[in-house]
Amino acid sequence: MRPLVATIDLAAIVENYAVAKRCAPGRQAFAVVKANAYGHGVREVVSALADVTDGFAVASLEEAAEVRAIDASARVLLLEGCFEAAEYQTAALLGLDVVLHNPQQAQSFLAATLSQPVNTWLKLDSGMHRLGFTEADLREWHQQLQGAAQVAELNLLSHFACADERGSEMTELQLERFLDLLDLDFAQRSLANSAAILTIPAAHMDWLRPGIMLYGATPFADLTATELGVRPAMSLTAQLIACRDVAVGEAVGYGCSWRAERASRIGTVSCGYADGYPRHAPAGTPLIIRGQRVPLVGRVSMDMLTVDLTDLPEAVEGDAVELWGAQLPVDEVAQCAGTIGYELLTKVTARVPRRYAGAHSN
Ligand SMILES: Cc1ncc(COP(=O)(O)O)c(C=O)c1O
Repeated sequence: MRPLVATIDLAAIVENYAVAKRCAPGRQAFAVVKANAYGHGVREVVSALADVTDGFAVASLEEAAEVRAIDASARVLLLEGCFEAAEYQTAALLGLDVVLHNPQQAQSFLAATLSQPVNTWLKLDSGMHRLGFTEADLREWHQQLQGAAQVAELNLLSHFACADERGSEMTELQLERFLDLLDLDFAQRSLANSAAILTIPAAHMDWLRPGIMLYGATPFADLTATELGVRPAMSLTAQLIACRDVAVGEAVGYGCSWRAERASRIGTVSCGYADGYPRHAPAGTPLIIRGQRVPLVGRVSMDMLTVDLTDLPEAVEGDAVELWGAQLPVDEVAQCAGTIGYELLTKVTARVPRRYAGAHSN
């Protein structure tokens, strides 16, 4: 068997959910499990959280159906709402919480015949300009939807563009625009993603929406997961499958982009870009062998990458190699590769087996 595995610590996810809840006592929290639970495996993550969570949030009806199949009773929030009119009845049958973010969605929703009323979240475009009603449209649709047969709770939701930048004026503005609508009657309100849960108590409202923090990574460029008190859930572990001495001036890997400036010992690792490791990670990006950091050298290949073992002479073929995880924050690898932990976690490909450790309640 190819030595590459993503080990998922489900207990860490359960603990991290508790951290989110402790940030905002008395509030409820949708655990955001879209994109296969940020790459961690939606079935296992939903099962592990089922006993503790107030609800889940997903990006599509297909994802919602997967969650509902595992947890028959939790609230499941459809963050982008329905993409087609026919989906509203399916959403009602599944007992979902549905976002409406524009007049077209609201019209289709009001035209739908549903087997039961659904909890409805009106999304305000408070400044991110990606999804959401204008304030004026939202006021109008609030009036039309209140008391409609399709509506159970009528709720308000918005999303921050810059909550990860502390002291952001944009965040202040978005919060003000959200609060300005609270003269309307809403049963529940939701605004805070992980960054806001961790640093903006005024944004906590009734329902939190923690995503990245559940998986033990940080939404911030300048605060580590450890500083935030969350524990990494995924460790991506490969093996040293070959070692060789390389003379001064010899090159390593495709394009000969790295050359040995000293007599070097080069190790080959069983993980490549087809597994989700970023191809554009530069030389020097750290990996962990025997508890020590070694630098990536040469270009990342499809199934393999190479590291400089010169300063770790005890490393031998068969040694475990952590690409990221308990010993090396995914955020640090992401920063080296010019991206964010979110992208690395969600891009671990299907061919990487996931192994589960820790709490598994069902
Ligand atoms: C609408 C919405 N809410 C909450 C989240 C969770 O955000 P985070 O992973 O930063 O906590 C996301 C994630 O993209 C989102 O799109």
